[in-house]
Amino acid sequence: MNIALLAGDGIGPEVTAEAVKVSNAIAEVYGHQIEWRPALTGAAAIDAVGDPYPPETHEICASSDAVLFGAIGLPRFDNDPSAKVRPEQGLLRMRKMLGLYANVRPTFVFESLIDNSPLKRERIEGTDLVFVRELTGGIYFGERGRKDNNNTAFDTCTYTRDEIIRLARKGFELAMSRRKQLCLVDKANVLETSRLWRETVQSMEKEYPEVTVSYELVDAVAMRLIQWPKGYDVLITENLFGDILTDEASVISGSMGLMPSASIGSKVALYEPIHGSFPQATGKNIANPLATILSAAMLFEMSFDLKEEAEHIRKAVNQSLADMVVTEDLAGKGKAYSTSAVGDYIVAQIKN
Ligand code: IPM
Ligand code: MG
Repeated sequence: MNIALLAGDGIGPEVTAEAVKVSNAIAEVYGHQIEWRPALTGAAAIDAVGDPYPPETHEICASSDAVLFGAIGLPRFDNDPSAKVRPEQGLLRMRKMLGLYANVRPTFVFESLIDNSPLKRERIEGTDLVFVRELTGGIYFGERGRKDNNNTAFDTCTYTRDEIIRLARKGFELAMSRRKQLCLVDKANVLETSRLWRETVQSMEKEYPEVTVSYELVDAVAMRLIQWPKGYDVLITENLFGDILTDEASVISGSMGLMPSASIGSKVALYEPIHGSFPQATGKNIANPLATILSAAMLFEMSFDLKEEAEHIRKAVNQSLADMVVTEDLAGKGKAYSTSAVGDYIVAQIKN
């Protein structure tokens, strides 16, 4: 297995190091061979070569079987609105160039952590939903600029029917492998792009007669998602709505440090934790590595069809949670373990 390793910025290198350790342990147990192919991205790449997604990095990603990604972004760029090159541009360019049009972001709860969630137990127990967010279109990639002597700014949201069809297909297929409920999240009462989404998804319903499709407005979903998350199975939506709702959904699980994601397209897929680069924690060995470790589990399952290996990682993660071998974000009043100690514990579970 050739896996490109893009550690990125902030805590990226620390959390990916643990996912590498865990993946290597799985490879050892099951007799797989992994070749990790490190490459520069984000602020680290800007500092080294002036480009957050250099051509060499693209070469490495495009020629690998999968990409494991840490995090990108640093405050020195966020706080400078005039910065010409930003780490995030690297991420967006990478998504576009690798054709990663669908971002799969699950939200589930771990029984042992339910009381960590800011939401009441009875509302979230049993939550198991997945967003499939469109990732290479919409307002993120539309025409933008300034006019009127710099006094007006605009960003445009555009979608083609084909972009909607390929994303919706991923959603329908995922729903077929789960509880067969699909919800399209849009703003069809106001936006023309949303009306195209609705019309397109409606026209696909007959291809998937077993799937129950609902159509809900994004503002209502923002509310229902935290009131009654159990009501959802698979949700599909455009890029910006998906960006916002998936951060909201991550709160249900009790820590942003837990949720993995996959970005898929026609060829290579990319796996990354949904959290950011958490710069305040850089180098302190305190960041939660579980989201990245669970992203590696998704990698085994989705890119190599290795379900048993993925399940083995998830079991070991569950064990570390049940034994409360966790980082400070989850430790509460108990002992907080370091990033690498959590990784070591999970490796030990796997080898046992
Ligand atoms: C995400 C992030 C990115 C996005 C940023 C870093 C550009 O928030 O992956 O959700 O908005 O897509
Ligand atoms: Mg986001």
